[in-house]
Parts: sequence; structure tokens; C-alpha cells
Amino acid sequence: MASSSKVFAPLALFLLLLGSTAAELSTSFYSSSCPRLSSTVKSVVRSAISKEKRLGASILRLFFHDCFVLGCDASVLLDDTPTFQGEKTAKPNNNSLRGFEVIDQIKNAVEKACPGVVSCADILAVASRDSVVILGGPYWDVKLGRRDSRKASFSKANKDIPPPTLSLSKLISKFSAKGLSTKDMVALSGAHTIGQARCTSFRGHIYNDTNIDVSFAKTRRSNCPRTTGSGDNNLAPLDLRTPTHFDNSYYNNLINFQGLLHTDQQLYNISGFISSVVKAYSGSTHTFFSDFVSGMINMGDIRPLTGSEGEIRRSCRKIN
Ligand code: HEM
Ligand SMILES: *[C@@H]1O[C@H](CO)[C@@H](O)[C@H](O)[C@H]1NC(C)=O
Ligand SMILES: *[C@@H]1O[C@H](CO)[C@@H](O)[C@H](O)[C@H]1NC(C)=O
Ligand SMILES: *[C@@H]1O[C@H](CO)[C@@H](O)[C@H](O)[C@H]1NC(C)=O
Repeated sequence: MASSSKVFAPLALFLLLLGSTAAELSTSFYSSSCPRLSSTVKSVVRSAISKEKRLGASILRLFFHDCFVLGCDASVLLDDTPTFQGEKTAKPNNNSLRGFEVIDQIKNAVEKACPGVVSCADILAVASRDSVVILGGPYWDVKLGRRDSRKASFSKANKDIPPPTLSLSKLISKFSAKGLSTKDMVALSGAHTIGQARCTSFRGHIYNDTNIDVSFAKTRRSNCPRTTGSGDNNLAPLDLRTPTHFDNSYYNNLINFQGLLHTDQQLYNISGFISSVVKAYSGSTHTFFSDFVSGMINMGDIRPLTGSEGEIRRSCRKIN
């Protein structure tokens, strides 16, 4: 026994390393199997955003809601059928997630260029990066090699995606449950520098919270009635200053108590570690961009399916 374990220990170590490298994502994953991937994705994203700027925000949010539920596996893209319950009607997603048609257009273009090769999960990761860049944010090389799930989870979509009513401590724990740090959470929240929210998502904050600028609350109340059920879908920009530009003004809003969501404004209360991070980002686009990029890479690493797990879907909306 002793001698055989001496022989097998190095072998076991080798297999362990092999196993862990096989599960790693890599920026060059499609460099020979689909060399035109990045230009193909970028041109579809660019034309979608040129028609409607908000779509860049919608795509970025799709990636977040994908990664937080069963990992970055395109589970969020699966349509409901009479025999399959997907994630699209879960509370955080229903009547809220958008951009699915853009993902379909990208998938069609990518299938033409390299049939059966690129996963929907990777398309979402690349399209999110492109959206950020096109709207003025930082560029990063996206790690690739994710595969698509053959399942979705309605219940985990309800449980794992943080709602806008969450307390700061619960917000921190939702992110840490996904392996993301408090700093990742603060930097990734900066995605709210673009896009829109419905009255139903910020009503509690503008009527009941006291950590809000009075005149800002008044402005937002004018298009978001107090009573649940009236004007629920009325929209307001998450960043009142530059809602279609990916910049650090989200953090300036927080310092001025002009965050739109309860969860946004909880990141700043003048004192404490989190407030000091918010201050740093409000003072330095460079620091925000660099931490946002690390956050996106960390989020993109959440439980990917690799190797022979899952599949490469033919249509992002249904399993093969
Ligand atoms: C920190 C916890 C977070 C909470 C509680 C949260 C919550 C929300 C809510 C309630 C909305 C508005 C939805 C609606 O009313 O229809 C929203 C929009 C958005 N979220 Fe988050 N979010 C969080 C983190 C993130 C992260 C990490 C990202 C991406 C990295 C992100 C990207 C976006 C974008 C871009 C929009 C606008 C989407 C659009 O205009 O279509 N959010 N978020
Ligand atoms: C999703 O929204 C639709 C339309 O508002 C509603 O009829 C449906 O009940 C909602 N689904 C869930 C699961 O809440
Ligand atoms: C505001 O607080 C009151 C009292 O706690 C509560 O009944 C009401 O539902 C809250 N309103 C919103 C919009 O959250
Ligand atoms: C402010 O937020 C920090 C977390 O960054 C928290 O520890 C502290 O208790 C909060 N202070 C006040 C006055 O609410």
C-alpha cells in the first residue's frame, strides 16, 4: 500500500491539475474554431445599441441574472414551454429583463460564421463586454469556453438574485454566496450607471427612506405614484446624470443621496468601508473601471459548465 501510494500520488496530482485546467476558461478558446467571433458579436451589438441605447444596459443585466442563477450557463435565456419552467417569469425577471431578441440576432450571425461551436453563455459574456465598451466603459478580454445548461431554475432565480429592497448586510451575503467580495459588489453595482428601472422597483425608496435627497425624491415621485398598482411600470433612469453613458457618475449620485434604488443608496452613508469605496470610485474613473473589470471577470467565472458538461445550444431559447 505504502509503495503504491508513492507511485500514484504524482499521478493523482497530475490528474487533479489536468482536471482543473480543463475546467478553466480561456480568452483564446475560440481563436481557431471561430476566429471571427468577436467582430461578429460586436457588429450586432453596435447596430442594436445604435437603434436603442438602453439595449446595452439590458444585455449587461441579462449576464448578471444568468451568472447568479446556476452559474454563467445561459439558463436565463431558455423560454418557458408547457412542460418546462424557465427563469424568465421569476420575480426579478418578469416584465423586466429585455434584450433577448438581440441575443437571438447575435446567435444567428455567429451560427452562420461558425455553426455549432459557440455557446450562448459565451455570447452573453462577450455581448456584455461590448455593450459596456460601446457606451463608453472599459474594455477587457473575456474568458471563454462556457457551455450551455440543459436546465433552468425558477426558484433559484427568485432566491439568488438580490431584490432592490435588500438590506446592506443581505446584499453582501448574496454576493459572497457567489464567491464575490464586497468590493466586487460595490464595483458591479456601478452597472447602474446605465439603464432604467420601473417605479415598482424604487417606490419604497422614494416614499419611505430618509437617506434620499429631498428634491430628487420629489422629482421621482412625480412619475411614480405612491399607491401600488398605479404607474408600476413607469420608468426612471438609474443614473440621473448620464443614463446612456458608462461612467462613474453613479457614485457621484450616491454621494449626493440621489441613488434610485434602496440598494444603491445603501452603499453610501458617509462613514464606513463601503462608503470609502464609493468615494474612491466617484473621484476616479480609472479606479472604478479597473475594479469593475475585475468584478465582471469574477462574475463570469461563477460555476461555468465546461468540457463535456451541458451543450452548445442551436437556439439560445431552447435546449437541443
Ligand atoms: C447589487 C445588487 C443589485 C440589485 C439589487 C439590482 C437591482 C436592479 C433593479 C431592481 C433594476 C431595475 C429593474 C426594473 O425595474 O425593471 C436593475 C436594473 C439594472 N441592473 Fe441591477 N441590480 C443589482 C446589481 C446589478 C449588477 C451586478 C449588474 C451588472 C453587472 C446590474 C445591471 C443592471 C442594469 C444594466 C440595469 C438596467 C437594465 C435595463 O435598463 O434594461 N445590476 N437592477
Ligand atoms: C408575469 O407577468 C405577467 C404579466 O404581468 C403576469 O400575468 C404573470 O402572472 C407573471 N408571472 C409570474 C410567475 O409572476
Ligand atoms: C412604506 O412604509 C409603510 C409603513 O411601514 C408601508 O405600509 C408601505 O407599504 C411602504 N411603502 C412602500 C412603497 O414601500
Ligand atoms: C454606514 O455603513 C457602514 C458600512 O459601510 C456601517 O458599518 C455603518 O454602521 C453605517 N453607519 C450609519 C450611521 O448608518
